[in-house]
Amino acid sequence: MQTLLGKHIILGVTGGIAAYKCAELVRRLRDEGAEVRVVMTQSATEFVTPLTFQALSGHPVHTDLLDTEAEAAMGHIELARWADGILIAPATANMIGKLAQGIANDLLSTLCLATEAPIAVAPAMNHIMWSDNATQDNIATLKNRHIYIFGPAFGTQACGETGEGRMLETHELIEKLDSLFSHESLSNTRVLITAGPTYEAIDPVRFIGNRSSGRMGFAIAQAAIEAGAKVTLIAGPVNLQTPHKVERIDVESAHQMYQAVMSQVAEHDIFIATAAVADYSPIETHDQKLKKSEEMLSIHLHRNPDILAEVAAMNKLFSVGFAAETEHLQDNARKKLKSKQLDMIAANQVANMENPDEDTGFNSEYNALDVYWPEGYIQLEKARKTELARKLIELIAEHYKTKH
Ligand code: CTP
Repeated sequence: MQTLLGKHIILGVTGGIAAYKCAELVRRLRDEGAEVRVVMTQSATEFVTPLTFQALSGHPVHTDLLDTEAEAAMGHIELARWADGILIAPATANMIGKLAQGIANDLLSTLCLATEAPIAVAPAMNHIMWSDNATQDNIATLKNRHIYIFGPAFGTQACGETGEGRMLETHELIEKLDSLFSHESLSNTRVLITAGPTYEAIDPVRFIGNRSSGRMGFAIAQAAIEAGAKVTLIAGPVNLQTPHKVERIDVESAHQMYQAVMSQVAEHDIFIATAAVADYSPIETHDQKLKKSEEMLSIHLHRNPDILAEVAAMNKLFSVGFAAETEHLQDNARKKLKSKQLDMIAANQVANMENPDEDTGFNSEYNALDVYWPEGYIQLEKARKTELARKLIELIAEHYKTKH
């Protein structure tokens, strides 16, 4: 099992006798390479002490929403964002009911509302409670909301009766949690992305730049995270929020972008170059602001290194380029695919600047892409950049896997 490696898992323990089995669960999760933080409800602490889970997880156990000390160390919103997944085991009928109703009156139920990570519950209760209509309705509600239900199993119960309601065994919970992540098309893959424009300084106040907003690259970074990848985003000057879990390195010039990419190449598997990198930069950058004097001013430029072509030539990373074209889209894209020895190139017609909302390309929310690879081609129709990014990431994942 590889998919739990490095995953951040919150184990939510609620008040049932099966709580004692979760000590072993923490150990096994850590054996699989996951980092585990345990959150207990008050009633869970009646069955097992927080100290047990603290010792096994290597982190203080969170029990209280209003604990100022714990909040100062890692606040509940931060904890909700930290998680790649939440597993509630054992999950009592009470906790299942609270989740179904959206009640947030303790730390664990609050985290479940505050997280964007997948949530799984492993019910454990008496078989009559499990088959009660109220519980079954709540379970149906959770399933509708894409909360995963692990178990329960049939067997003898702590109360001495036999029926459906036993919590799954530790190894079964681990397998199910693992499969929850393994559908991710880029799990265990490291993706390096460039985005935005570059600014090439003329003097301390002036530069040569371009109209790239960086939106497409940031949307691709977000989509790659959703697909389970580890993502490093090297961004030129843009006014965008870093997507959650993305490691961002800010640069200004093409040269800085080149250096940042080269320092990261060895740590990555896929390179997606969405940045609009300046092809040329001034030979000389003036230390002081240029004063107007002559009628004419010439600025001499020299070629910048082609970051994408250099990475592709190393033949180590699956390399994807972008081409923004104003004419001969297909011809130019195919030429770039070949000349830069790329695995894939996504080409788009640049936007009409006068009406960016209606259009596609640089400053627009929307884009449409023609994607080429050496043996084929697909048209991704006009859509929001976020949606298009997801489609492109799936296409990249498919081709990357075929190549490897
Ligand atoms: N690129 C790069 N480094 C550069 C220039 C471009 O990594 N110095 C990457 C871009 O991120 C993009 C692709 O190369 O993925 C664009 O190719 P390019 O041939 O540079 O496109 P244009 O700049 O549009 O080229 P031209 O002006 O010749 O059409």
